[in-house]
Amino acid sequence: MLRALIARTHNALERMACSLGVDAGNPARYRHDDGPWLSPGSCASSEITVSWVTRLRTTTRLALGTDPGSLVPHYSRAMPSKYHHARLTDLTPATTYYYRIISPFEGASTHSFTLPAEGARDLTFCIIGDMQPTDHQQFLVSRSVAEGVARENPHLVVQLGDSVHRGTVQEYWHWMWQACEPFASRFPTLRAMGNHDWGYDLGKSWRRFFPIPFVDPKKSYYSQHVGNVHAVFLDCYENDERMGSQQLSWLKEQLQSSPPGCWKFVFLHASIFSSGMENMDYTVQQQLLPLFDRHGVHAVFYGHDHIYEHYRYAYGQNDRVFSPGHRPTGRPIHYFLSGGGGAPLEDTFGIHHRPLSMHHRTWYSPQKGEFVRDEWAVRSWTSAHTVPEAPQCANPGAHVTCHMPSAVAQDDCTHFGFEYGENACHYLRVMIQGEQCTVSVQYPDGSNVSGPNGQFPQVWKIFL
Ligand SMILES: [Fe+2]
Ligand SMILES: [Fe+2]
Repeated sequence: MLRALIARTHNALERMACSLGVDAGNPARYRHDDGPWLSPGSCASSEITVSWVTRLRTTTRLALGTDPGSLVPHYSRAMPSKYHHARLTDLTPATTYYYRIISPFEGASTHSFTLPAEGARDLTFCIIGDMQPTDHQQFLVSRSVAEGVARENPHLVVQLGDSVHRGTVQEYWHWMWQACEPFASRFPTLRAMGNHDWGYDLGKSWRRFFPIPFVDPKKSYYSQHVGNVHAVFLDCYENDERMGSQQLSWLKEQLQSSPPGCWKFVFLHASIFSSGMENMDYTVQQQLLPLFDRHGVHAVFYGHDHIYEHYRYAYGQNDRVFSPGHRPTGRPIHYFLSGGGGAPLEDTFGIHHRPLSMHHRTWYSPQKGEFVRDEWAVRSWTSAHTVPEAPQCANPGAHVTCHMPSAVAQDDCTHFGFEYGENACHYLRVMIQGEQCTVSVQYPDGSNVSGPNGQFPQVWKIFL
């Protein structure tokens, strides 16, 4: 909570400085040659955009081919720029392409990507949470998670926001691009807007880097169909750190219009359920839980608190809803908090030492037929609960601690179907095989997050 207050104050001061003409990190003066990175086009099996950024304004030229030995000039834009987005269309699905940036990196490396088949029913994607490296040490940690992601050879990568620690600081972008290097040039990546991406310039720098088909050039939410997946990306910071009614109406339309028999996944940054220091976001819960329940969302992925936690929650379970009119379906949805993409973990923010605090909320009890007030205790995580088997890369220099369902740090975790959590760097692997989806949680070295004595293997099967 304190962290959020400090960040909001910083944001406000920095925005004030920008409005007075003091631009703290003008991206037009970017001082590095970074990239390339890939973004899927609106048709992920036949379109892709290759992007890079240059310290000098140059033309945009790229060679492409299916044989790495005979690439031909394919994309050219004469207008000099620092931000380069080469949009490649009419590509052949399920094909491996090779590409090389011609200008300004003469003699630069040849990279490759493989497009998914049209309407693919078997698809793998990896999810990486908060990275936001600010120095060499943090860069190394983020990079180790990125290397784990690259080893999975996914069709797609999703980053859950807080790519950078401060969207207006060029050096932070530079650290981030270096950290993402293992996967960025090979696997198309989609991103959700995080508070650190958004803060300071309302996400302007973030949008400049990513040629994503947003619903509107000034909005940062969008949806994407990849194979048999309808992926919806929300912007939790749209209206002074809240989602507006327009976005919520759009979300409802999206979920209603998903093709029958496809996977519905929602990606956002705010911690909808969490026992971390940022904790539960009550407003986001009220805005989203009824919609997810009504419209058959299969899984929700989010970051913000720098830990891993898994919840399986059916809206309305334990006799609580937000409004009397909603009749819950009783269908549980998987919620994955994945904020350990390399950013400092929650132990550095005091998760083991926070004092006991009491929280309350008033909501509706269908059984009683009236609004009721519930009180929740929030305690610290128990530092004695460690995972000795966890590899060193999971929390360099410190023990990995875990949050177990038998010793929950706060009462409402149980209410929301909490199952297990760890203060550890990790990524998620999502394997879709027709009507079955397997979500696995992996440490940066590729081993599975399984808890002390392997009691809590984090492998979840979800069915259409
Ligand atoms: Fe965040
Ligand atoms: Fe973060």
